[in-house]
Amino acid sequence: MNFMNVDYSTKIPNNVNLSEDRQVLKALEGWHPGYIDWWNDMGPDGFQQSLVYLRTAYSVDPRGWAKFDYVKMPDYRWGILLAPQEENRVIPFGENFGQPAWQEVPGEHRATLRRLIVIQGDTEPASVEQQRHLGKTAPSLYDLRNLFQVNVEEGRHLWAMVYLLQKYFGRDGREEADELLRRRSGDADSPRMLGAFNEATPDWLSFFMFTYFTDRDGKMQLHSLAQSGFDPLSRTCRFMLTEEAHHMFVGETGISRVVQRTCEAMKAAGISDPEDVAKVRALGVIDLPTIQKKLNLHYSLSLDLFGSEVSTNAANAFNAGIKGRYKETAIDDDHRLQNSTYPVLKLINGEIKRVDEPALTALNMRLRDDYSQDCVKGLLRWNKIIALAGYDIRLELPNVAFHRQIGEFRDIHATPDGVLIDDATWNKRKGEWLPSSDDGDFIASLMKPVTETGVYASWISPPKVGIDNKPGDFEYVKIET
Ligand SMILES: [Fe+2]
Ligand SMILES: [Fe+2]
Repeated sequence: MNFMNVDYSTKIPNNVNLSEDRQVLKALEGWHPGYIDWWNDMGPDGFQQSLVYLRTAYSVDPRGWAKFDYVKMPDYRWGILLAPQEENRVIPFGENFGQPAWQEVPGEHRATLRRLIVIQGDTEPASVEQQRHLGKTAPSLYDLRNLFQVNVEEGRHLWAMVYLLQKYFGRDGREEADELLRRRSGDADSPRMLGAFNEATPDWLSFFMFTYFTDRDGKMQLHSLAQSGFDPLSRTCRFMLTEEAHHMFVGETGISRVVQRTCEAMKAAGISDPEDVAKVRALGVIDLPTIQKKLNLHYSLSLDLFGSEVSTNAANAFNAGIKGRYKETAIDDDHRLQNSTYPVLKLINGEIKRVDEPALTALNMRLRDDYSQDCVKGLLRWNKIIALAGYDIRLELPNVAFHRQIGEFRDIHATPDGVLIDDATWNKRKGEWLPSSDDGDFIASLMKPVTETGVYASWISPPKVGIDNKPGDFEYVKIET
């Protein structure tokens, strides 16, 4: 069979020859009804009978892999898609550097691999749960469609991880697959596995921040797993990255459009001080200081997803050939890291200092640094919009010590500039740096649905280009009433 094209003849579209892999097909078909139940309970609230202009993967050829058409979300063909197998691929790092990549799970790494796949898998449905109420307040049909595109693809990413569990991990893989449908974002008894995926996504600015900052953590994790010596995991993650790019596009352009609209409104009203929050809010747009607070929140929550700066788990996974570095194969070194060091930010005698640590145990820190660098690109774009409008204010990433729950800085408080402060000061001032309930109420007051074709809410600019070369006034969702 041609691995580029996807077989749509089985109930579960795939390019892994499921029609000849009866046991796995049966397991997946057995899991399917529970998935649909989950989608109905925890997927987008409403709109299930609406026609949404969605892309569906029909190939894994990077030159052309998606088809756009009107689809009802429950009819979306969630499938199993792996990037084509690279001939003679070798493990690109760790103690097994240069040996042939594994096509089956090596016994000694079974538990680690399963844990990493389950953690990745758990984030996918979690974000759908977090975003399930947003359809009711979408600022346009274009945005509504983008939300649903992200949601169905996160659903597909869950399928991708469940396939690996069911095909390669036998009975405990099947049990883990069921557990992935049982946990719920924010649930007190049975929460999702990672902190940021139990937070609320109460409004559309949060959604854009989430897709920019938290989906980007996903991108970094997928890149590291795409290097894995376990070839099926590598191929799975490589194809997920193709879809993931759109999620971050939604975040980056979403924030751009909010910033754009705010700047335009301030200019039109002759406002010279962008920090005059009351005046700006009276225009029905979101002031830049509040955007900065939302950014501070989502960036710091996302940093926590990288785990402790110094981690023996990370070192073991690297040594074993299970999880590599961001763009491992493009790095010019020995890919074993036995003798190298990496600078890590640490808290030493009450001061934030950079200390050289063995590079192997510092892999989380390195990935987090790569992530922060990747985040900067969006800020440059947003700040350019602000500068072009003539305002002397900039959005900035807060210091990595700011508002952390995990790692070196979890027990201290720091300002966004990285100045250590005591509890009392933090409690007094945190409302300057993180969204307060008043900020939340103001944003919520703007979240009124706009469902007329080609019309956009007061607080956000139309996109520069539409989806699939369609214009901004295309009917991206045909809402069933
Ligand atoms: Fe995903
Ligand atoms: Fe995503």
